[in-house]
Amino acid sequence: MRQGRLQGKTVLITAAAQGMGRACALACAAEGAKVIATDIDASGLASLAQEAAAIQTELLDVRDATAVRLLAARSPALDVLFNCAGIVAHGTVLDCSEDDWDRSFDINVKSMYRMCQAFLPGMLEHAQSNGGSVSIINMASMASSIKGFVNRCAYGATKAAVIGLTKSIAADYVKQGLRCNALCPGTVDTPSLRGRIASAADPVQAEKDFIARQPVGRLATVDDITPLVIYLASDESQFVTGQALLVDGGVTI
Ligand SMILES: NC(=O)c1ccc[n+]([C@@H]2O[C@H](COP(=O)([O-])OP(=O)(O)OC[C@H]3O[C@@H](n4cnc5c(N)ncnc54)[C@H](O)[C@@H]3O)[C@@H](O)[C@H]2O)c1
Repeated sequence: MRQGRLQGKTVLITAAAQGMGRACALACAAEGAKVIATDIDASGLASLAQEAAAIQTELLDVRDATAVRLLAARSPALDVLFNCAGIVAHGTVLDCSEDDWDRSFDINVKSMYRMCQAFLPGMLEHAQSNGGSVSIINMASMASSIKGFVNRCAYGATKAAVIGLTKSIAADYVKQGLRCNALCPGTVDTPSLRGRIASAADPVQAEKDFIARQPVGRLATVDDITPLVIYLASDESQFVTGQALLVDGGVTI
């Protein structure tokens, strides 16, 4: 039988109940990993757990520092931490309330700081004891962090911050066997994107506009994203750290 590319690895994913997090949980399990899938959506997690025996689910709000620390204390040392949680706040700098700004930074950036503070020490020990490497993958975005887009002020600011956080962690721990990379997808067809389309004044035009962002002429699917996550999680990417990797359908050509 073929050995999976993540055989023997333990992978924890935030925001794993739907969208890219869910697809990556299933893809990691299919490659032999033990997956700890976390989210605030209990029913989404319950249906995910039924799809693969190797997936353990845990309710986790990434805003809750105590819950994050408690989960780290009772989890095995991770080989891979995939910080996927994030939200989109719509609007320009003038539309952006302090609440939108603070909530965006809390969920999109400070959550990663909390997760790394809680899980990174165990990951470093693990890397030292098994002579191998461990990997953190942070979900950034192409939108308004690499390329400017309208109405993505707070979102773009947070995703640019994710890239900065990623590079600083990569620099600090490169000698200790830890790699840290950021993922920058283009527009991906996920439940929350469908929600953004449905809530637009003209949903048909909104979908066309989202598609038109990508010169390849379509939205990404989650299956366009999972291969890069598997690569970054696996030992195949041992020479890759501190990068913001784009899967953007040609937006930034
Ligand atoms: N969809 C896109 O076009 C796109 C493009 C680039 C980057 N991203 C980023 O990818 C990530 C996932 O987005 P998606 O569109 O695949 O999924 P999604 O937005 O459809 O689902 C997000 C999940 O996050 C969970 N969640 C929300 N708040 C949470 C919290 N406080 N703690 C834990 N979980 C929470 C939700 O319950 C949900 O299951 C986000 O960081 C997003 O910014 C999305």
